[in-house]
Amino acid sequence: MTHSISAKQTHTKIILMGEHAVVFGEPAIAIPFGAVTVTATLTESPTDPTIDCAFYKGLLTNTPDVVASLYHLVSLLDQDLNTTDNSLALTITSTIPPERGMGSSAAVAAAVTRAYFNYFDTNLDDHTLRYYLDESEKIAHGSPSGLDALMMVINHAVLFQKPDHFISIPKMPNGYLVVADSGQTSQTKTAVAMIKQKYDANDAETMASIAQIGSLVKEATHAINQEDLHTLGSLLTANHEELKKLGVSAPIMDALQEVALQQGALGAKLTGGGMGGCMIALADTNESALKIADALKALAKEVWVHPLKEDL
Ligand code: PMV
Repeated sequence: MTHSISAKQTHTKIILMGEHAVVFGEPAIAIPFGAVTVTATLTESPTDPTIDCAFYKGLLTNTPDVVASLYHLVSLLDQDLNTTDNSLALTITSTIPPERGMGSSAAVAAAVTRAYFNYFDTNLDDHTLRYYLDESEKIAHGSPSGLDALMMVINHAVLFQKPDHFISIPKMPNGYLVVADSGQTSQTKTAVAMIKQKYDANDAETMASIAQIGSLVKEATHAINQEDLHTLGSLLTANHEELKKLGVSAPIMDALQEVALQQGALGAKLTGGGMGGCMIALADTNESALKIADALKALAKEVWVHPLKEDL
């Protein structure tokens, strides 16, 4: 009988505030997002090793650049788990829109790593899993903060700071997040590289925006502790303005944000790497969230409504 093993990553992440600045040591707040999942399945391959995913179907040795991080991860796992006697077919099925700032690459890497360890009957602790995710994310993103990798092993909201300082946020306020997929791919690697270049050149506006995002996140932590949704909303919008100044928004992201605000969102911003991807909007009631979601559907590819305080 053909040996087949599947592993699932049952959630991904939404960065509430602090993306990009987090790469440069500022804090960020992220929450788990369980509306989308990814499954990796390994079976014996009758041919040489293969990969079947949204971007590529074929021999592992011929993988295009778009799946370079996956190729790197699989090579590393093959080497560490000493799989040379096995030829494996890896299939990835995902409901996570890829390249939309939802941490899809980290979620895929988590499912693949788990599938490999299960297939070779080897115990996998969170620390080891995060090592593989970081390795894969370095190829996907250049210089990742580590936040995406952390969120794959955590099922509640966190305040994170590089390199590995994180505290749980035990009590999120009673609100709703509307998450709208613009349908346009985010450009995390390009965006991170662009900001890094300006940071390394000590560009005054870039330094000011990074520091300002850090301050906004600290204020947001206070607003969350006070269960003050209205202040949190304004901080989200202010965070979007700084991301715009950093050059990582896009006309579609600004248009989605504007619709959300017009429809009564308490605040709204892009989430993740930007230049496309997803926009999040904060609403105080489910009714208001549904109204915002309805209006966003005219512009967005897909829209989810997610309780802010839901732990997975
Ligand atoms: O685009 P995503 O979901 O991979 O999120 C990237 C978040 C950044 O802060 C821009 C980069 C990072 O490594 O934290």
